[in-house]
Amino acid sequence: MSDIILEVKDLSVTFSTPEGPVNAVNNMNFTIKAGEALGVVGESGSGKSQTFLAIMGLLASNGKTTGSAKLLGRELIGLSADELNKIRGQSMSMIFQDPMTSLNPYLKVSKQLTEVLVLHKGMGEQAARAEALSMLEKVGIPEAKKRFDMYPHEFSGGMRQRVMIAMALLCEPALLIADEPTTALDVTIQAQILDLMRKLKSEFNTAIVMITHDLGVVAGLCDTLNVMYAGRIVERSSVDEVFSAPRHPYSQGLLASTPRLDEKTHDNELVTIPGQPPNLQRLPQGCAFAPRCAHVKDRCLCERPPLFETPSGSHSACYREEEVA
Ligand SMILES: Nc1ncnc2c1ncn2[C@@H]1O[C@H](COP(=O)(O)OP(=O)(O)OP(=O)(O)O)[C@@H](O)[C@H]1O
Ligand code: SF4
Ligand SMILES: [Mg+2]
Repeated sequence: MSDIILEVKDLSVTFSTPEGPVNAVNNMNFTIKAGEALGVVGESGSGKSQTFLAIMGLLASNGKTTGSAKLLGRELIGLSADELNKIRGQSMSMIFQDPMTSLNPYLKVSKQLTEVLVLHKGMGEQAARAEALSMLEKVGIPEAKKRFDMYPHEFSGGMRQRVMIAMALLCEPALLIADEPTTALDVTIQAQILDLMRKLKSEFNTAIVMITHDLGVVAGLCDTLNVMYAGRIVERSSVDEVFSAPRHPYSQGLLASTPRLDEKTHDNELVTIPGQPPNLQRLPQGCAFAPRCAHVKDRCLCERPPLFETPSGSHSACYREEEVA
């Protein structure tokens, strides 16, 4: 059996707005295997979240997805809300920066966790309670038994994050998508949550997508990296390769002056590259990075570079990849 968990082909997301269409995600192609953690980085507005919201079927109502995203071989794009809801509970889960996106403030944590198992696994109330409690212990909630019947607001921010992760894990998803799940947390809690993710990967073979602004998180967890710019992948490589020899000028800019990638400090935050990200409604005709690129040549301004395979097997969307690498 193939160990490919998610296969994305030609995935695009367009939003209709009064000012015209916004092409937020364009022709994305990538796969994720069991036990693989894919990092997704790029400036604000580069399409990181919308790519995965589209895959989860959670786009805003003015958004439209085209192309294909297969989870365990099953096409997700075009499924009905009911079918997607089922799959979301069973084989893929998403966690967000703000745990209250997933938690209901008016329901006890025990009730919310138990419901997932009753609804999606058809478990009885008692068995579901026992399993939910055990999951809270697994994600490291201290005195889980005492806290089980509390409301979300009675938990600290870090603990709420763990409750959301526990909820996402209850159905043992094959794919866990994490959208900046540790950004709002202090460094110690961040480290513990990352430990938990590493465990999921190694013990349960969970495929993980980690959307982050923090290269330290990428270094500590991820195997492969999608670097996004203006709604496209501009570099796709193994994490080791991007860190040791980034190929695309944008990735090079991101990595420049990042001091220590293996340490969890705030110095790992992505650096700011001079210039502005492009307006998605008025993208230049050629390479979208051209206005900010030190290596730009005439051809870059006329034609958009596709994602080329480099001799090392990584991918970079740059005509001058050989000269700039
Ligand atoms: N409902 C919407 N209508 C119109 N445009 C939208 C809508 N939702 C998102 N967008 C646009 O889609 C683009 C990509 O957004 P996305 O949320 O994927 O960015 P991101 O890379 O996750 O950024 P950040 O790092 O800030 O989270 C942005 O330009 C955003 O303005
Ligand atoms: S294609 Fe040209 S403008 Fe774009 S990143 Fe490469 S060198 Fe720079
Ligand atoms: Mg986002």
